[in-house]
Amino acid sequence: MNLQGKHILLIVGGGIAAYKSLDLVRRLRERGATVTPVLTRAGAEFVTPLSLSSLCGRKVYDDLWDLTDEAEMGHIQLSRVADLIVVAPATADLMAKMAGGHADDLASTLLLATDTPVLMAPAMNVRMWTHAATRRNLGTLTADGIATVGPNEGDMACGEFGPGRMAEPLEIVEAVGIRLGGGPLAGRHVVVTSGPTHEPIDPVRYIANRSSGAQGAAIAAALRDLGARVTFVTGPADRPPPQGVDIRRVETAAEMLDAVEGALPADVAIFAAAVADWRVANAAGQKMKKGPSGLPHLDLVENPDILATIARMEEGRPRLVVGFAAETENVLENATAKRVRKGCDWILANDVSPATGIMGGAENALTLVTTDGVEDWPRDTKVAQAARLARRIADHLEASET
Ligand code: CTP
Repeated sequence: MNLQGKHILLIVGGGIAAYKSLDLVRRLRERGATVTPVLTRAGAEFVTPLSLSSLCGRKVYDDLWDLTDEAEMGHIQLSRVADLIVVAPATADLMAKMAGGHADDLASTLLLATDTPVLMAPAMNVRMWTHAATRRNLGTLTADGIATVGPNEGDMACGEFGPGRMAEPLEIVEAVGIRLGGGPLAGRHVVVTSGPTHEPIDPVRYIANRSSGAQGAAIAAALRDLGARVTFVTGPADRPPPQGVDIRRVETAAEMLDAVEGALPADVAIFAAAVADWRVANAAGQKMKKGPSGLPHLDLVENPDILATIARMEEGRPRLVVGFAAETENVLENATAKRVRKGCDWILANDVSPATGIMGGAENALTLVTTDGVEDWPRDTKVAQAARLARRIADHLEASET
């Protein structure tokens, strides 16, 4: 990735991960970026101004009240000349300050006084990351348009295990490239459906299925990570939707179809939702009661097939329409027939028999069926499968344009 001519303001917060920011500087500069470092007081407990300035080849800014700097380059100017501000590590405290709009030191003042895009790489103890206050702050920052890379899950310096480790320098570099418009899916719009649908029987009961929404959420995140603008149409899923995508929440298949149609035009549409095939035609307006008249009678009617509707659009059809085929037997034959029947370009078949643990689990084994043939994607995490799909889509779009 070429970052020639790009100017990055790097704010280094006070966390053990600050040492990785030194490597980050090296990686960014290798790709041609200019990096101006800002070190918080806490950050200076972990890395020295000298190491940071040596690696950046520039002066380190660390004091809001340094009059020489104010004369030389005011703090407002400092943040505005940059193409991107990267906060790495973004500690729980820095995130709280950013979310609250504080401006009591150079870093927080720069962040408040700028309209330059911001990318943060959070790093903190797992309990701090999962704490309700940090969740709230993250929600606020995301809504404010601040992009996030990581944190990753793993062993932490404090001896605990879980999400909270700062993303690796190369992951941050990739996110920087995407924020600066360099992702392979930059400028593309992708619609993703995900999760189950709930079809009401009465106001308190519904028909549903075991989909957790994990695969759809991972796909949306992977597409976002390659620079796509993603509209994520989700039924009531267990998994939270990814950050940095446009979320449309729906309950029923009919609402999902409306939301997908409303999100078009799109370059690509991916149908990962486990849509209920039927809904109750005579859903009751009030809670159904047991009574002398015996068991209730439910009339089922077929739901609209969202994938087939979009795949068969005569005008404004997305260039690439991808479906899933959830099967419990004859996976390949059923999926191949389903692709033709529904009119989609690609279908990803998976075996959802209970013994596979795929539905609701963290892993998936997929078979990609296209007009060109069949590819097996052996069992891997849903996140890895999503990354593979996103890459494959980027390559396909690029190849079909050359
Ligand atoms: N799908 C859809 N709308 C529906 C049903 C399914 O968009 N009403 C999509 C799913 O998101 C998936 C694909 O169609 O991408 C196949 O779903 P699947 O449940 O495997 O197939 P069905 O159409 O339900 O067929 P069958 O139940 O006969 O296997």
